[in-house]
Amino acid sequence: MRQLIAGNWKMNGLGQAAFAEIEALRAGLAADPPHADVLVCPPATLIARAHWAAKGAFPLGGQDCHAQASGAFTGDVSAEMLKDAGATWVIVGHSERRQYHHESDADVAAKARAAWRAGLTAIVCIGETERERMDGHTLDVVSRQLGASVPDGATPQNTVIAYEPIWAIGTGKTPTSAEIAEVHAHIRKIVGAGTRILYGGSVKPSNAKEILGLADVDGALVGGASLKAQDFLALIAAAAERS
Ligand code: PGA
Repeated sequence: MRQLIAGNWKMNGLGQAAFAEIEALRAGLAADPPHADVLVCPPATLIARAHWAAKGAFPLGGQDCHAQASGAFTGDVSAEMLKDAGATWVIVGHSERRQYHHESDADVAAKARAAWRAGLTAIVCIGETERERMDGHTLDVVSRQLGASVPDGATPQNTVIAYEPIWAIGTGKTPTSAEIAEVHAHIRKIVGAGTRILYGGSVKPSNAKEILGLADVDGALVGGASLKAQDFLALIAAAAERS
């Protein structure tokens, strides 16, 4: 399957500068068509403008959604609203949401169902803490999160899994290739052959080729290195050619 390189801008990006990065990304992809599918998940405030600037060259995604379609939930954004703004994807259960907003696996599952209801593809994030890895619990944690965060009804079309070890996010630390391969093989056994499994956590142009070359790594979820089009393009160029 074609790899997916997804950029997660987190809470970064303001009007004109963000617009320029989207334009640069579009121009770079047009000049050098990638082997991989590309996705950008900017802040919700930028989705409509980014969608316009991308001109269909790549899709846009949200970074979170509420489980309900509408209602008295001040400050929240629904999957339907993301769709309305031009998104076709949404990340759910990112560790920063789980940690800072106390989202449980059940909350994440409800958000994934909301994504499907709105016609969005959900990227469901899972991953262990440093303590859990040191204690040898990584595979158990990943199994438990997959079971509880991914609702029944998940298909390769409506769901992508992102394995993101929490201790690797934004730290510059990554697991060894053998460690990544072990977890991805474990996830593969659970989710089956057709479902994309992304790796996330300190993916950069310098390590992308090695990580994206691993079996059962079907792409990457990229934070810091997705903010600048030139870095992101270099990373996209490292995607493995798979049919
Ligand atoms: P990072 O973030 O690439 O900056 O480590 C990845 C993520 O949180 O999705």
